[in-house]
Amino acid sequence: MANFILREYLEDIITSSLNTFVHTQDNQGKLDSNTTYPAIIKPTKSAQFGDYQVNGILPLAKTLGTNPRDLATSFAEYFSTKYSKEFAKVEVAGPGFINLFLNDQWLAELTPNLEHLQENLKVAKPQTIILDYSAPNIAKEMHVGHLRTTIIGDSLVRVLQFLGQNVIKVNHIGDWGTQFGMLMAYMEEVEKDPEGHDVKIEDLDGFYRAAKKRFDESEDFQVYARSLVVKLQGGDPHYLAKWKQLVNITMTQNNRTYRRLEVLLTDDDIMGESMYNPMLPGVVQDALDQGVATIDQGAVVAHLSEFKNKDGEDLGVILRKSDGGYLYATTDLACMKYRVEQLHADDIVYCTDMRQANHFAQIEIIARKLKYVPDTTKITHVGFGMMLGNDGKPFKSRSGDVVRLNDLLDEAVERTEKLLAERNSDITGEEKDNLVKALAYGAVKYADLSKNRTTDYVFDWDRMISFEGNTAPYMQYSYARIRSILRRLALPESKEVQITNEYERNLVLKLQEFADVINKVGTLLTPHLICTYLYELSGTFNSFYENVNIAKTEDKQLQDSRINLINYTAMVLAQGLELLGIKVVERM
Ligand code: ARG
Repeated sequence: MANFILREYLEDIITSSLNTFVHTQDNQGKLDSNTTYPAIIKPTKSAQFGDYQVNGILPLAKTLGTNPRDLATSFAEYFSTKYSKEFAKVEVAGPGFINLFLNDQWLAELTPNLEHLQENLKVAKPQTIILDYSAPNIAKEMHVGHLRTTIIGDSLVRVLQFLGQNVIKVNHIGDWGTQFGMLMAYMEEVEKDPEGHDVKIEDLDGFYRAAKKRFDESEDFQVYARSLVVKLQGGDPHYLAKWKQLVNITMTQNNRTYRRLEVLLTDDDIMGESMYNPMLPGVVQDALDQGVATIDQGAVVAHLSEFKNKDGEDLGVILRKSDGGYLYATTDLACMKYRVEQLHADDIVYCTDMRQANHFAQIEIIARKLKYVPDTTKITHVGFGMMLGNDGKPFKSRSGDVVRLNDLLDEAVERTEKLLAERNSDITGEEKDNLVKALAYGAVKYADLSKNRTTDYVFDWDRMISFEGNTAPYMQYSYARIRSILRRLALPESKEVQITNEYERNLVLKLQEFADVINKVGTLLTPHLICTYLYELSGTFNSFYENVNIAKTEDKQLQDSRINLINYTAMVLAQGLELLGIKVVERM
């Protein structure tokens, strides 16, 4: 099979047949000889309509001015004879759809291609893809708002790397801005008089609150804090060291959270806002020189006709305030330039909540006008919705505060331990610790990743930690169950798989969809498709397992085939979860 993604292979052969065939039908020269008319292949909703359906005949019939059913019928006849190895039956349905029934033997023989999934899926020409995600702000604790970007980003890194793309992970931390004046001024006060203060820097949120309170209450303090901002921006070594201390303390804590979540981010991926500070004056100058921005009441503003403000006028994006300060937008412009020039990005992917969609769209327009970003470089916003509580409002703690990510993870662990106790699990020691972590963090990640990212989603503990439904524990349980069967049955030497009943057939067919799903996620950047797929696969496996006996199968070759089938199922489950950043366990 030239293209081993089954659906694409069918699309390839049927499209090429279709284009040969329709020209023989075109007596009046209505078709364009330079156009490839596509056949679109989709899995069917139900087995009675075959395995895949061909769409694309209707519009062609219209162009040709023929009856679509007649065209479909003669075309079906044409290619089914040509591809008799692939198709057991080809049927015309409705106004001109074609249902494809694959040949069992041919289908069964495809299965061992799962052994070479990754090498088969490798893209021909790797792209350099910058993935900008997580990006917490310094001197604050990570909260649930950072959960989605961190785990969606992590899953996308895994998928794109799996496909052989050149992925550059970037943690664009918020490590620059006027708030550092306030923080450093307060740091000095605490250091001078540790007894008189009951906050420690390590208590990031508490320290930030105390500093803010002091700032709001004292004008002298404000003046002093501002003077420190000036010193920091001027490169004063003492204050740079203080600033660095704040960054390090925060990132040490964030790294602990990253390690808990087992995401791939490390300190090597940090390219924070501060990095672009030296570029900002040049960016503003470029914008002025190239007429992309003008001076408006002392500020430098880029006016965009593509966006309107609330008065219906062209939106103004401020690049430099009248007091000389730069903004988030200015930094992102410099950052885009850097990523194109220094990192040679083919695609820059931003993983933030939907509310920043306009921000990135505006920066993209300005960056393209300034020729910072050429047409050949793509800018992609991977936006996501909000995490809601059971009441449909933004997810908050019982006291109404934002929930700290670490507290959320603690609660996941607690709840999982309780659940395991209820299930009378006899697993102990290190194995139990690993099981708890895999289940708890897996549940939290999966609950998030399984929803279409663009919508808000309701964070529901009971549902996500359940062993039933579209949850991580259910997938992990299916995996562990297969592994326990395989511990009792030796893996055969031959990789061969046979189809002798509908349960085997369904499983073989489902396994062949995996490659297509990974590929789609690599393009659409929507991890939930993997979850949907794994859930369907688990269902297909469970009905196989309920109906097909493995241990008692007497025909040795058939038994081997069945062992291979469940082994492939376990492989795909583990691989799918791995692409989501979720661990499997051998027993539970
Ligand atoms: N730190 C920002 C926030 O917490 C997200 C940064 C996203 N990346 C970027 N290049 N702007 O909202």
